[in-house]
Amino acid sequence: MAAANMRPVDTTPVWFMRQAGRCLPEYRELRKKYAFLEVARTPELAVEATLMPVDRFGVDGAVLFADIMLPLESLGVPFEIKPGVGPVIEHPIRTMEDVEKLRVVGPEEGTPYVLEALRLLRSELGGRAAALGFAGAPFTLACYLVDGRSSREYPATKAMMYGQPEVWHGLMDKLTSVTELYLQGQVEAGADAVQLFDSWLGLLGADAYRQFVQPYTTRIFSALKGTTRSIHFSTGTSHLLPVIRDTNPDMVSVDWRISLADAWEVIGGDKSIQGNLDPTMLMAPWSVVARAAADILEQAGNRPGHVFNLGHGILPETDPDQLQCLTEFVHASGDR
Ligand code: CP3
Repeated sequence: MAAANMRPVDTTPVWFMRQAGRCLPEYRELRKKYAFLEVARTPELAVEATLMPVDRFGVDGAVLFADIMLPLESLGVPFEIKPGVGPVIEHPIRTMEDVEKLRVVGPEEGTPYVLEALRLLRSELGGRAAALGFAGAPFTLACYLVDGRSSREYPATKAMMYGQPEVWHGLMDKLTSVTELYLQGQVEAGADAVQLFDSWLGLLGADAYRQFVQPYTTRIFSALKGTTRSIHFSTGTSHLLPVIRDTNPDMVSVDWRISLADAWEVIGGDKSIQGNLDPTMLMAPWSVVARAAADILEQAGNRPGHVFNLGHGILPETDPDQLQCLTEFVHASGDR
C-alpha cells in the first residue's frame, strides 16, 4: 500500500495476476471437491483460495478469489463459467429491450458473499498483505454480455458500439452504475485497493475509446476517488495509455508490449505503476526470468510507486517454483 500511495518502500512489493487459482496444486485439489462458482460464492472457500498464494509465495497483495462475471447476478443475467471455455451467457444482450430489463442493484443484494469474503479476508490477513478487490470494467463486461462468450475480436460487441450507439450507451451506463456500487461496497467491506480489469480494451483505437468507453471508466474512478487506491488494468493498450491516464486512476497496470520506463513517462509521475513481466516468460529457465525481472526493476529505478506484477494472468501450466523464485528475487531488490 505504501508503493500504491507513492511512498518510499524498503523493497519492491509484488503480486501476480490470477495468482489465486490456475497453477497451484492446492487449488486444483480444492476444485476437485467444488465447482468454480461454488468456491467463489462460499466466503470461507473463497478466502481459502485467496490465501493460498499468500501463504506459499509471500506475495504482498491478496486478490480476492472471485470473477469479473459475478456482478451479473446484480444485473439479473444468468451465466456459467465453463472449464477451459470461460464465461458463457446463454441469452446475450443485443437490443434496447434487453438493456432495459437489466437491474441495477448494489452488492448487498446482488453478491453479498463477495462482501462477506472481503471482511473475512481482511481479518484473516491481519495486515500481512493488502486485500485487493476488483471488478470487470464496463467495456470488458460488455464484451461477454453482448458476444456471449470469449472471442478474439468480440464482433457483436463492436458492431453494437458502432452501429447502435444508443443501445451501447444505455448498456454502458447500467454497467457503470452496477460497477460503482460493487466497488464502493468492496471498499466499505475492507478492500485496501481495487483493480478495474479492462482486459479486452486493446481491441479499440483511441478515438473509439474516447467516444464509447472513456466517460464510463472516468465515472468509476471519480466515484472512488479518496476512498481507496484504484488500479486500471488492461492489455495491448500501449497506444491508449495517454487516454487511460486521463480516466484518472491512482495506478496504471501495464503489459510487456511497452517498456515500464516508457509507460511511466506517459502515465506521469503523479501515478503509480504496476507490471509488467510477460507471463509466458515464466516457461523459460529461471536465469531468463531473473534477467527480465532485473530489467523491469532497473527501469523503475528507485522511484516510489512501482508494484511488480505480470502483464497478464499466470498461465495454468506455470511451475509454481518459478513464482516462488520471482517473489524472492523482487523482494531482494531492496538489497541490491
Ligand atoms: O488470482 C485470481 O485468479 C483471482 C480471481 C480471479 C478470477 N478471475 C478467478 C478465475 C480474477 C481476478 C479474475 C478476473 C477475470 N475473469 C478477468 C480479468 C483478468 C484477465 O485475466 O484478463 C477475466 C477476463 C475473467 C473472465 C474469465 N473467468 C475467463 C476468461 C475465465 C476462463 C479462463 C481460464 O483460465 O479458464 C474465467 C474462469 C476463472 N476465473 C478461473 C479462475 C480461477 C478458472 C476457472 C476454474 O478454476 O475452473
